[in-house]
Order: sequence, then C-alpha cells, then structure tokens
Amino acid sequence: MNLRTSSSEVYRPTVSTAKQRGKLFGIGVGPGAPDLLTLRAIEILKSINVVCIPRSKADNDSLALTVAGKYIPATAEIMEVATPMTRDRQVLEAEWRRGAEKIAAKLNEGLNVAFITIGDAMLFSTYTYLLKKVCQLLPDIEVESVPGITSFAAAAAHLNTALAEGNEKLAIIPAVDDPGQLREVLRLFPNAVLMKVAGQYNEIVDVLTDMGLKDSAVYISRLGYPDQFVTDDLDSMRQKKRDYLSLILVKQGGF
Ligand SMILES: C[S@@+](CC[C@H](N)C(=O)[O-])C[C@H]1O[C@@H](n2cnc3c(N)ncnc32)[C@H](O)[C@@H]1O
Repeated sequence: MNLRTSSSEVYRPTVSTAKQRGKLFGIGVGPGAPDLLTLRAIEILKSINVVCIPRSKADNDSLALTVAGKYIPATAEIMEVATPMTRDRQVLEAEWRRGAEKIAAKLNEGLNVAFITIGDAMLFSTYTYLLKKVCQLLPDIEVESVPGITSFAAAAAHLNTALAEGNEKLAIIPAVDDPGQLREVLRLFPNAVLMKVAGQYNEIVDVLTDMGLKDSAVYISRLGYPDQFVTDDLDSMRQKKRDYLSLILVKQGGF
C-alpha cells in the first residue's frame, strides 16, 4: 500500500480541479459531544466536498453525522456507505468494496472526500477497511487520517480517573466473543476497557461477579450525547435495553 500523507504539514484546503484527484480524509469525530472534535477535523470539514458516513440498521441516524453535522457545509454532498451489522466476512468485504468504489469515483472527479467516524478513526472503525480498499483501487491517492478522542478516553475523563498509572497495564478489548476469555485478560490486566458490551452484557457481568470485580467496574453509555448514562451498579442494567454505544471500565485498584 502506498500511503502518501502530509502529517507534518499544516492542512490547507485546496480547490480540486477535474484533472487532479481529490484527497481522502478519515476523520474521528470524537465520542459524541460536538465540542470534542479536533480543530484539524473542523478545519477540514469546513471546506469538504463529500462527506462519507457509515450507515447500518443499528445506526439509523448516523452517529458521526449527528456529532459533526454543525461543521459540515450545506454544499457538501453526504454519501452513505453501508456497514452491515454482520460478522460474515464475505458480506462485509463486498460492502467495503462497494463503498470504496463509490469513494474512488468521487476522488477521481477531483473531489475531497472525508469519511467520518465516531471516536478515533483507527480504532474499531469501518474507515480502516475502506482505506485499504480505496488504496487498492487508487494506489497513489493522497490520504490524511485525523485522530479523534476515543470513547474510553472520554469515559476516563468523565470519571476524573486514570485509565492507567505508572507501570500498570491497560487492556482494550471488544467483548463480543466468549466472555470466558475475559477471565484471562482480567487476570493479566488490572485495568481494562470492555467495548461493544451491549450484547453479551449479562455474561460479562457474570464474569466480573465471579472474579470479585463487579464493584471495580463502571458502565457508561452514550457518553457525550444528551442521554448519556453512567452507573456503578452493573446488575441494574441486566434486564434493561443496553445501547450499542456502551462500554465498561474496570479498575481493579478502584476508581
Ligand atoms: C465500533 S466501536 C467504535 C470505537 C470508536 N472508534 C472509539 O474510538 O471509541 C463502537 C464501540 O465504542 C464504544 N463507544 C463509542 N462511542 C461511545 C460513547 N459515546 N459512549 C460509550 N461507548 C461508546 C462502545 O463500546 C461501542 O460499542
């Protein structure tokens, strides 16, 4: 893959011509609050031609657009890329290819395209899959990935607590697989961020309970959105509808 980046350059919007390919941006828009985008992200969005948004059935109003909408000019075209909620690799590969082709077509027209995504662009995001596919289609394309504040950085800040201190280890894991594997991780890591916890929530809380860690954990949902919710009573969420945007912070040394 040939990624030409301009990491040390100050970003200056350019007016693309039809002869010149556009530039691809991957922008992490942060955890949810519209004032937690970076200045660089806002600067790029202000003059962007096409904004590409991930859309799945579970993400009906496109979260990234909700977060960043106020910075996107009315002239920008909004282009959706399907991100089906499946783990079937073939289905996903086909959608990513379709999405990459749509993006490549815009870049070939000389338009600058920004894929916006919640949190950080390089962590559990469709962006990195699309980026690889776009670079296969257009190997010389110019790319700039703009980091965003991750959900768990925002969660730690919200709780005014450290994610890790000194030599402490920190694990970041998507808790979608066998929650039993959590035991191994929690034996090795005193601090852990458990992401994507909504589905297997009860099994995860069972593990935390068995390990005597339930009181060393906090559940955080929709942080930065008007309906954000935080509780250290993990059992209280067992029977409730859990939002996809929810995570658990575990700190065995206490909060
Ligand atoms: C596909 S991952 C995206 C991660 C994102 N790129 C980041 O940097 O945080 C989705 C998971 O991130 C977590 N998440 C994202 N935004 C969140 C928020 N505002 N509040 C709580 N958890 C959030 C949840 O665990 C959710 O299931």
